[in-house]
Amino acid sequence: MSEIVRAQEVPAYTMMTGEIYDLIYADKDYQGQAAKLTELIDSNCESGGNRVLEAACGTGTYMQFLDPHFSVDGFDLSAEQVVAAKKRLPDARIEKADMLDFDMGGQYDAVLCLFSSIGYLKTKENLDKAIANMAKHTLPGGLVIVEPWLRAEDIKPGHISIEQGKNEQLAVQRMGKLVQKGTISSLAMHHMIGTERGIEHFVETHELAVYTDEEFTDAFHKAGLSIEIDPEGLTGRRLCIGKKPAQ
Ligand SMILES: C[S@@+](CC[C@H](N)C(=O)[O-])C[C@H]1O[C@@H](n2cnc3c(N)ncnc32)[C@H](O)[C@@H]1O
Repeated sequence: MSEIVRAQEVPAYTMMTGEIYDLIYADKDYQGQAAKLTELIDSNCESGGNRVLEAACGTGTYMQFLDPHFSVDGFDLSAEQVVAAKKRLPDARIEKADMLDFDMGGQYDAVLCLFSSIGYLKTKENLDKAIANMAKHTLPGGLVIVEPWLRAEDIKPGHISIEQGKNEQLAVQRMGKLVQKGTISSLAMHHMIGTERGIEHFVETHELAVYTDEEFTDAFHKAGLSIEIDPEGLTGRRLCIGKKPAQ
């Protein structure tokens, strides 16, 4: 008789190692998006330097493609993702820290928060805190660039996502279902991980807030930043482009 397979339920980014994350997003056009960000920063930033900080940098793939042009630091809440990012960029400064209270001890020409990471903060109060902290880490004339989670009108409750990836040691199949609870999108992500030891199944629930353009505008203004919202952005999810007044 075959073994009974039980899925392990764990919080987001507990069992999703950097290797699994990179296999899931192997087809994401990080290089093309980093080129767009480079152009955006070069044509809008007035702080005179080339230091960039990526908040919630994950495994560091944006950092890798921004690196030749900028000097890039990063941080992430997940210890697993930080280990993977350090492996990718051994010379960069990459810390384990929270967007709500990170302290990198200095200011940057641009602070970035990409691929909907801001959604994980879940409340407007936390959004205000994180944007204020990003603004604090930005030089006068510098930029804060945030890529939100989806707009309310783009959410499809019940939507099933499916991704897969494979290398020589590991095969990943991920299927997720989106349930919308008020302003929170709850994504139960089922991962099947195949290695020579067998096939493991774990479920991570990712919860992301749907913030409106008005909420972003309010958070940026409270933090002393001007804001423009590009409705398309890098991936159709909008891009909030904040600027700190030059002194
Ligand atoms: C969708 S991933 C994006 C990672 C990376 N920016 C990329 O585009 O590949 C979201 C990231 O946000 C991080 N994260 C979630 N909440 C966070 C917080 N409060 N502070 C810092 N990082 C956080 C997660 O650990 C995860 O690496």
